Amino acid sequence: MRVATASILLLSFACVAVCYGGRGIDPLTEFIKGRSAKRWANYGTTKHEYKAVYVGAQEGLKEADMVLSLPGQPQVNFSQYSGYVTVDPDARRTLFYYFAESQDSCSTPLVLWLNGGPGCSSLGSGGMTGLGPFRVNPDGKLFGTTNIAGTMLQMLSSLNPQLALDSLTRIEYKTREMYIAGESYAGHYAPQLASLIMQNNKITNQTVVNLKGITIGNALIDIEDYHRGYYEYLWTHALISNKTHQGIVDYCNFSPGADISDRCMNYRYEAEDAVGDIYPYHIYAPWCSSSYSSMISGYDQCSSDYVKSYLNIPQVQTALHANVTAIPGPWKVCSPIVRRHWKDSTDTLLPTIKELMADGLRVRIYSGDTDSVVSITATMYSMAKMETAVKTPWYPWDTQQEVGGYIVE
Ligand SMILES: *[C@@H]1O[C@H](CO)[C@@H](O)[C@H](O)[C@H]1NC(C)=O
Ligand SMILES: *[C@@H]1O[C@H](CO)[C@@H](O)[C@H](O)[C@H]1NC(C)=O
Ligand SMILES: *[C@@H]1O[C@H](CO)[C@@H](O)[C@H](O)[C@H]1NC(C)=O
Ligand SMILES: *[C@@H]1O[C@H](CO)[C@@H](O)[C@H](O)[C@H]1NC(C)=O
Repeated sequence: MRVATASILLLSFACVAVCYGGRGIDPLTEFIKGRSAKRWANYGTTKHEYKAVYVGAQEGLKEADMVLSLPGQPQVNFSQYSGYVTVDPDARRTLFYYFAESQDSCSTPLVLWLNGGPGCSSLGSGGMTGLGPFRVNPDGKLFGTTNIAGTMLQMLSSLNPQLALDSLTRIEYKTREMYIAGESYAGHYAPQLASLIMQNNKITNQTVVNLKGITIGNALIDIEDYHRGYYEYLWTHALISNKTHQGIVDYCNFSPGADISDRCMNYRYEAEDAVGDIYPYHIYAPWCSSSYSSMISGYDQCSSDYVKSYLNIPQVQTALHANVTAIPGPWKVCSPIVRRHWKDSTDTLLPTIKELMADGLRVRIYSGDTDSVVSITATMYSMAKMETAVKTPWYPWDTQQEVGGYIVE
């Protein structure tokens, strides 16, 4: 029997968003600001034309992609692979991936992890800052993490979901259970890719990919909820005044296609000035450059800087089979070019997510409450809009005899 499950996990500690480093505006905020409500056209739709994807000969590629050892890496007993997957030989278009097997690769599901942006690297973000098998120390050495739940496949997220499907061909995905996970703008990629996979499974009458569910964190799900939740978050966390918030409530209509009035814009600028230059991924943490101790309960805002240095080391790129065509550098975690040219952005993924649930997929939506970029209040508005039945009402979720968060199923 297939069970449709949506659970929302609200994490009440640390930032779960991966932080893209460097002061200044974060990529998602810049992306959303770059479009007025009017220009936010519904490019993406949940229905796709069936198109056979390009799959080149795979013989020997997996072996060639095996990563023998990364510079500074501790001894491990799992295999790792990385390299490029050709998705369009005529356009010379490839996708970069990194794949770490879990130690028990027979019984663990395959997890595809996607960071947001759009245009940020999944390996350089989540992959190297806690979700993959290694993190980077300030001295540039790698250290192991123990928290890989499944077998992790990470990709540069600057991709079209249609292409991502093809990248799975190098891995024995057909029999393995698979989950798609991601955060922030991947609140778009993950449901869209899942929808494409389910649709192609139906069209071909085969389980081409044995997809079981998706999980998305601090995810951009619905643009109206995003805006409404954002300003409410700022107000309820004492980052803007009641007066400013009230002005936004009174004068801003965030529904798709609505005109944004000058009065609304003025209140939004007022809010921006009021918040000031805080670290947006964790409102209670200092910036990396701050002279305060940078570590807050195992979370280091400077980690993206260490990763950037590490992934720019030529020997590291060679070991990862990356940058084989001498791409002009340096490597950056997010691509402003991808972000500026990204057109495929739909207003809401709620209908897609509901369809996935109706198809029997498990859906987990989680949100850390110290991230202001995609706020917990936005997530809660979207959950309310889904209007699904509550199977298990809100309850505290414990970890190490402490309340770690709250769950609704
Ligand atoms: C190797 O894998 C086993 C489990 O299969 C584990 O108990 C052991 O600690 C691992 N060794 C290292 C060095 O990671
Ligand atoms: C899938 O099954 C349906 C109904 O049995 C059939 O009409 C269709 O041709 C099948 N498609 C393929 C690609 O085999
Ligand atoms: C916020 O401002 C509005 C409008 O000025 C006022 O009606 C309301 O009582 C204020 N709320 C709080 C919590 O101060
Ligand atoms: C690619 O490698 C070249 C050296 O061959 C280096 O100069 C360049 O910075 C690298 N590009 C990226 C994006 O890291």
